[in-house]
Amino acid sequence: MLFPKNHELSGQTIFLDLGSEKFLSFVTVEQAIELLNRSQVVGVPTETVYGLAGLIDSPEAIAAIFSTKQRPSFDPLIVHVSGKEQAQIYTVDWNEVHSVLTEKFWPGPLTVVLKKSELVSDAITAGLPTVGLRMPLHPVALEILKQVRVPFAAPSANMFSKTSPTRAEHVESEFKGTVPVVDGGPCQVGLESTICTVTEFNSVDRTCRVHILRRGHITATDLQQALQSHGWSATVEVKNSTVAPGQLDVHYQPQIPLVTIKSADLSEVEILNLCNKNYDTSHVVWLNLNEKPEMAARHLYAQLRDLSKPPATLLLCRWNHDWTLDAWLTIWDRLQKASREIF
Ligand code: TXA
Ligand code: MG
Repeated sequence: MLFPKNHELSGQTIFLDLGSEKFLSFVTVEQAIELLNRSQVVGVPTETVYGLAGLIDSPEAIAAIFSTKQRPSFDPLIVHVSGKEQAQIYTVDWNEVHSVLTEKFWPGPLTVVLKKSELVSDAITAGLPTVGLRMPLHPVALEILKQVRVPFAAPSANMFSKTSPTRAEHVESEFKGTVPVVDGGPCQVGLESTICTVTEFNSVDRTCRVHILRRGHITATDLQQALQSHGWSATVEVKNSTVAPGQLDVHYQPQIPLVTIKSADLSEVEILNLCNKNYDTSHVVWLNLNEKPEMAARHLYAQLRDLSKPPATLLLCRWNHDWTLDAWLTIWDRLQKASREIF
C-alpha cells in the first residue's frame, strides 16, 4: 500500500447546490456519485494524479471530458474499474498474463491495454480497437467505483498538454472552479500510471512479451519479476510508441518555459547566457528535484505549478547524470516533455 487504508480526507467545508448552475468546486464522495450518475464530470483523486472522471455508459459525460480538457478526439481515455472481474467485461482477450499482472499490481498505478469489448465506445478509445484499463488505489476512487458500479473514464484533470494535477486545488485552479472535485489529499505517486500491453503470449511454453507504452511508477523489472515468480519467461520492453496517441512530445507544460540542463559542466552564468537569447530571464527560478526518486516523482508536478507562478519568468532544472534507475527514467520522460529546451 502506498498510504494507509484509513487515509483521511482533508476536512474542508463542503458545499454544493446541486440544483443551481453555480457551485463551489469541492464536493463530497456522495455528491460526486450523484453528479456522475447525472452524466456530469467530476475531479477524482487517484494515487497517481487527479482524474477528470465521467461514467463510461454516458456519451454526454465522455463528450464533456474531451470538451472540458480541450482534448483532441484522437487521444483515448483510460477506463477505471473496480477490479479484475469488472475489467474482464470490457475486454475480449484477457489471458493469464493479465491475471498475474493485475493480481500483483491492482489496485495500483498500472494500466493494461487490451482488445475492447463492444461495451466500450469508440469515443472513449478514439476509434482504437483496444482499451486501457486500470484499478486505482486511492480510497476515494475505489469508493466511487464501488458505489456507481459502472467504470469511469478519466484522463488527468488538466487542460490538454498542461501539467497534471496532484492536489484538489490544482484541479480547481486549472478549470477556474467550474469542475467539481473531491479533495482526497495530495497524490502519493505523483506521476501517471505505467501503461503496458501484452503483445505475445504462449501458454504452452509460458513465454510472453510485454511492451511498456508509457513509463510510470511500476517498472519493466517489476513486471518481469511478477511474471517470473508465476513461472512466466517475459520479455518486457519500453516502447514509447505512437500506439499511445497521447504520448505527444510536448506535454505536462507549466505556465512559464522550463529549461532543463543536462550538461554537468555548464556554470550558472553560462546557462543564463544561453537562456538570455530566447527567454525572459528577469525572474529565474530553480526547480530542485528531490534526491529520492519516489519523492522527486511525488512532488514534480506540484513544483512545476507552484514555481511557475508570477513573478517567475523562467524555470530551470538541473538533471544529474547519476540518475539512471528506472524510477528516474520515468521522471526524465515527464521532465523532458515539460521542457521547452534541454541544454
Ligand atoms: O495515472 C493515470 O493513468 C491517470 C489517472 C487519472 O488514472 N490518467 C491518465 O490519463 O494519465 P491520460 O488521459 O492523461 O493519459 C492516458 C494515456 C494517453 O497517453 C493515451 O493515449 C493512452 O493513455 N491510452 C489510452 N488508451 C489507450 C489505448 N487503447 N492504447 C494505447 N494508449 C492508450
Ligand atoms: Mg494526461
